[in-house]
Amino acid sequence: MAKFLFVTDLDNTLVGDDDALEQLNQQLLQHREEHGTVIVYATGRSLPLFEELRSEKPLIEPDLRVLAVGTEIYRQDGDTPDPTWASQLNHRWDREKVRAIAAQFNDLTPQPQSEQGPFKASYFLEEAASKEVLACLEAELKDQGLDAQLVYSSGHDLDILPKRANKGAAVAFLQQSLQIPKERTVVCGDSGNDLSMFQANHSRGIIVGNAQPELLNWHHENPSGDRYLAQSHCAGGILEGLKHFGFIS
Ligand code: GLC
Ligand code: MG
Repeated sequence: MAKFLFVTDLDNTLVGDDDALEQLNQQLLQHREEHGTVIVYATGRSLPLFEELRSEKPLIEPDLRVLAVGTEIYRQDGDTPDPTWASQLNHRWDREKVRAIAAQFNDLTPQPQSEQGPFKASYFLEEAASKEVLACLEAELKDQGLDAQLVYSSGHDLDILPKRANKGAAVAFLQQSLQIPKERTVVCGDSGNDLSMFQANHSRGIIVGNAQPELLNWHHENPSGDRYLAQSHCAGGILEGLKHFGFIS
């Protein structure tokens, strides 16, 4: 057994089955203590919503937090995002212009202010309208010369982000700064905003059994031995996958 980089989404991945979460917490704490394993939470939540979840669930202290869908990285218990990462996201990004374009779409309802960030414009979008709206919005952003990407999750959340920012890119940045190779990195997720971590293909991947169709469909269309689809839900699925890859026994 040796150190690894453990990266997990929170809602409906790490969190969702309290008993399994307790079990996984114990394993991770022990592994960190004995081997220096690095624990990273990668979530769509902003810092205030992350703190809210932390007050509701027994989450262990992570080493690093990747928040706001990869647009913010926080080290230890600091509350200022890593400036080096932030400085890489500005490339051809104009948040005001993005907001103005999105405002032309009636089907997009802005999410609360806490979920809007310097590199993240977030909306609610009903599944039924999503296909058409996403295609038109993408074309419009491109027409206006913006290098943005659309991340649609769980049939209701739309995040518009700079091209260079997502959970996968943030994890690659951390891997490089921590010097941890692909074989010793594992990412876990359940929905659309986790897709970039699996697509990046710079780690092992665990998809929990309760994953959303957008992630499952992609997984089935792009099979890989580096990715494991668990039977169990949430933290139970993570435990299953960590054993499958031999990260824990
Ligand atoms: C979290 C965030 C929200 C985002 C969603 C999907 O729920 O609070 O802003 O749209 O994750 O990434
Ligand atoms: Mg999730």
